[in-house]
Parts: sequence; C-alpha cells; structure tokens
Amino acid sequence: MSLKNKLFSFILMGHTPGKIPDNIQDEFNHELINMNFYRSKNISLVTIFLSVILIFIDIIFRQEGLWASSPGYKYLFYTHVSMVIVPVILVVLINIDKKSHFKHTRKPLFFVMAFAYFITLNSTFTAIIDQRIHGEITVFVIGVYLIAVMNHFKPLTSLGIYLINYLIFIIGITIVQENPAILRGHYANGTILVVVAWFLSLILYYAKVKDFLSKKMIEHQKGELESANQLLRATNHKLQESLSALDESQNIIFTLALALESKDPYTHGHSERVSKYALEIARHLNLSESDQIKIYQASILHDIGKIGIPDSILKSSSTLTIEEWSVMKSHPERGEAICSKLNFAKDILPIIRHHHERYDGEGYPDGLRGEHIPFLARLISIADTVDAMTSSRPYRSAGTFEQVLEELQRCAGTQFDPFLVQTFISLFSTKKNNLLVQER
Ligand SMILES: [Fe+2]
Repeated sequence: MSLKNKLFSFILMGHTPGKIPDNIQDEFNHELINMNFYRSKNISLVTIFLSVILIFIDIIFRQEGLWASSPGYKYLFYTHVSMVIVPVILVVLINIDKKSHFKHTRKPLFFVMAFAYFITLNSTFTAIIDQRIHGEITVFVIGVYLIAVMNHFKPLTSLGIYLINYLIFIIGITIVQENPAILRGHYANGTILVVVAWFLSLILYYAKVKDFLSKKMIEHQKGELESANQLLRATNHKLQESLSALDESQNIIFTLALALESKDPYTHGHSERVSKYALEIARHLNLSESDQIKIYQASILHDIGKIGIPDSILKSSSTLTIEEWSVMKSHPERGEAICSKLNFAKDILPIIRHHHERYDGEGYPDGLRGEHIPFLARLISIADTVDAMTSSRPYRSAGTFEQVLEELQRCAGTQFDPFLVQTFISLFSTKKNNLLVQER
C-alpha cells in the first residue's frame, strides 16, 4: 500500500481499507463504473429538466431587458442551453447500438467521465459568469459537490476533475471580478471548498472499497460454508449408509442367534429374557447408555457359539460325557470367534468369551478370577443364571425367584460377584413385579 493510501486509511477510515486483490480488480472496476453510470444517467435527466426551466426564466429575463443591461445573462442562457443539449447528446450516444455487447464496451465509462467533466466545467463557467452579475460562486460549489457525492471516483480521477475546474475557476474570477477584497475571499473559499470536496470523494471511494471487500469476504465465507455443508451432507450420507450396513449385519447375526434358540423349546426366548434381566441390573446401577447397549448386544449373542455345537449335545437330556462337556464348554470361544468378524461387536467380545467365568476362578474358558473377569461379563453371568433357573429343562422343572435368590446368595463370592448378587437382591426387592413379569 502506498504512503498516500496508508495516510488516508489512517485519517479517514480509522483502519486499513486494503488493496483490491488483482483477481477481483476487474470486477471492482466494473461495479464502480456501472454504479457511476446509472447515477450519472439519472442526474443527466434531472439536469435536462431543470435546465429547461432555467431557459424559460432566461427568456423572461430577456423580455424584461436584462440581457441588454448585462451581457452575463446571455452567457448564462448559453450555459443553460448547453446543459440540455450535451446531456441529450450523451444519452443518445449511450443508447445507440445498445444491444451490441453494451456491458463489455467502454461506453459507460465514457458517459460517466464526459458527464462529470461537463457538469463541473459548466458549473465553473456559470459561476464565473455569475461572479460578474451577482458576485456569487454558488453554482461552482453545487457542481463540484454534486459530482463528489454522486460518483465514486478513484483518487487521481477526482483530483484531475477538481484541479482543472479549480484552475479555470481561479483564472475566470480573477478576470471578471474587479474588487480585490471579494476576489481574495473567493480564492480562500474556492480553495477550501475544492479541497474538502476532494476529501469527500476520497472518503466515499474508500468506503466503496471497504464495502466491496466486505461483500467479497461474505461471498467467500458463504462459499466455504456451502462447501463445508456439502462435505457434511456427504459424510452424513456415508454415515447413514454405514449405519444401515451395520444395522443389516447386526440384524442378521441377531436373527441367527434367535433362530438358534428357537430350534429348542427349552431355550426359546432365553437371550431376550437375559437381556431384560441384565438391563434391569444395569439401570439399577445407573450404568451408561453405552454400557447398556453393550449389555443388550452381548445378552443376545452370548450363546451364539452354540451354533457350532451338535444338537445331540445341545439337546441331550442325559448327563454329558467328559468329551461332550468339553465341546459344550467351547461355545464362549466359538461365539467370540464368530463375532470377531463383526465391527459392531468388537467391544462385546470379552463379554461373550467370559460369560461362564466364575468369581473364584473355577469357570471357563480362561479361569479368570474376581475383578479380572470383565464387569459386564459378571453381570450377564447373573442374568443368564436367573433365566436358566427360572426356565424349564428336559431334566427339571422351572425354579422360583425365591430359589434363585437363595442360589445367588449361596454362590456369592464363589460363582458370582458378591456385589452384583447384592445388587440383584436389592433390585428384586424394589422391582419384584417387573422381574416376575419376565418369569415364564
Ligand atoms: Fe453360555
């Protein structure tokens, strides 16, 4: 940024207006020219209308004999006539061949510059004539400030306009004004007015620059936001697809687990009931939602490994042989192996593997002891036992909840986690009816 721009930005803007980046310089110039063009065109129509009125007044002055008493009135008439003719010519020129790439030609720029120079020069000459008749410089001030307010010119462009008019104005009034005291006053006033008008032009120009940069910044941020939204929508879509795929794989394996149970009337609905008991315990302990999801999934899938156990062993009504029992005891590991292929089940693999561990270390498959057994596996072990004891088997009838509580208390610290046994007893005393509803 040049020293001049820094100075103006510091004095006029209170901050750095910034340079228009090269890649949007053309767009800025185009916007600036178009804005100045439409404003100049509107002013030109107003100028034509006002000048017609002034011409009528000039004709009245002529009839009253003022033109003969002072030749200035005749010159004022000429300036007023030119203020009709020149804008009309400019408007006609700009409308000729309008359809042929209008926006891509330099016509708007030509119109803006021609009209700005014409209005300021006309008002300068009018002021010089008026100086002769009334000793006034009002029209000069109006012409200069009209252009300053209505157009957003670049600093050097506006400086050129004001400088030329200022020099003509100073030379003109020096020629026509004979009173040195009045002349000195007009020198001072004219100089101050022109300097202030140029500062006004600068303020408006840099305000326009600031607005343009802000607009581009907003457009840029809007674009980035839209891109981020698109990315988010795409990610969300992929996530939905993944969730659907997950749901599908989950549904398949859950259906498989339930289908396995349904083969045997004695185990039909076992997993669903285990999940309900286990979830009641989890809620009683205020476990997290994440843990409750794991508990539900593990409850449904804890015996999925039995899919690989022959029916002759699964449905045997007699005591299993050592070999048969060995095969039966392999179901937690088989279940872990089956579920290890499923992404959604990776967090519940330890629960499936260890749901037959005992608190005293006498369980299977790894003989883990006490706190070494995953907490949720210990929890499901109790829910599993509760349902097993309250369900009929080929070799015995279903037990009652009172028998279950006795068994749990008897085995607290050996087969079961004593804390979880106490939790279930506490749960039974407060939600007895809820639990009994699930009893078959
Ligand atoms: Fe099991």
